[in-house]
Amino acid sequence: MDTEATSDLHLLYAPIEAELERLSGFLKREFSAPEPFLFQILQHIAKFRGKQIRPALLFLSSKLGEKPSTDDHVKIGAVIELIHTATLVHDDVLDDARLRRNVETVHRRWGERAAILMGDYIYSRAFHLSTQVPGMAGVLSETTHTICEGELLQISNRFQPELDEATYFEIIRKKTAILYAVACELGGVLGGLDVERCRRLHAFGLELGMAFQIADDCLDYFGKEAVVGKSLGTDLHQGKVTLPLIYLLESVGEGEASWLRDVLSRPMEPEEEARVGALVSQHGVVVDAFSTAEGFVQSGKAILAEILSCDSVDRAVGESLELIADYMIRRQR
Ligand code: IPE
Ligand code: IPE
Ligand code: MG
Ligand code: MG
Repeated sequence: MDTEATSDLHLLYAPIEAELERLSGFLKREFSAPEPFLFQILQHIAKFRGKQIRPALLFLSSKLGEKPSTDDHVKIGAVIELIHTATLVHDDVLDDARLRRNVETVHRRWGERAAILMGDYIYSRAFHLSTQVPGMAGVLSETTHTICEGELLQISNRFQPELDEATYFEIIRKKTAILYAVACELGGVLGGLDVERCRRLHAFGLELGMAFQIADDCLDYFGKEAVVGKSLGTDLHQGKVTLPLIYLLESVGEGEASWLRDVLSRPMEPEEEARVGALVSQHGVVVDAFSTAEGFVQSGKAILAEILSCDSVDRAVGESLELIADYMIRRQR
């Protein structure tokens, strides 16, 4: 909780402080194990907690309903955070990232074998926990299935400069936005909201998740590792064509476009990566990508307005959800 943007986030979490406190206790117990090797890795992963945006969205969404928070809310919030954490452990293997949440990644410290099994260990624990709350396991396992599909689709499109915006949107919807959508939807279900409002909460979360990933892909170009707390610049290095690059290919002249298509279709030399980075900033395509992300935030907020207009909802909860929507593109980490 060190940067300005994060302390802001802390304020947005004010209506759900109690739930987040219980979530911390729950996760602390989950990140413990009698076996020393496992214990060591789990403690390492738990050393720095993430922003916990997804469980926060679940808790806030549930507060739009009449049902009070119970242990089930905390458990499902934890399941969502565990699924997210397992995804990150595996994702860092795929991206060969060095740094995550300000510490060395699991695979860099203990090797890929341990990281793969560690991710599986966390996923399977999450699924086990999800079976303890009726109606949750199906949607959460289906969601994880979709996340893997998104990551696989991304892998199959590595070093493909012809990747278009529609395919990029499909990748980020599957790998990232779906978990946001389900966090909001399940919050609604746990809070006792009707099917229509849960459907709208899903749609709201989807828009936020799209904006979040676009902003993340922009941060990969201009963020500072010391602030973001994870490895940056890996997208270009790993051949991931993200929105800034898609826009760059549309902005440059034919000569530069053909050079770009060449270098983007294979691993690059460091000087080539630097030149692509320079073109990205020269052509202002990160700004364009942010405007697209802003569009998702606006549609998310329009959906939220419909949800909030239905009946007397807690103003503070509504405001937090609105501000979290803005945070998607305002965040620095
Ligand atoms: C990182 O998510 C992974 C993406 C989907 C880009 P977060 O930025 O929410 O990660 P933590 O949990 O706060 O570390
Ligand atoms: C991965 O996207 C999102 C996941 C579903 C894990 P990124 O690869 O951009 O996430 P970071 O930047 O490593 O957090
Ligand atoms: Mg990554
Ligand atoms: Mg990223």
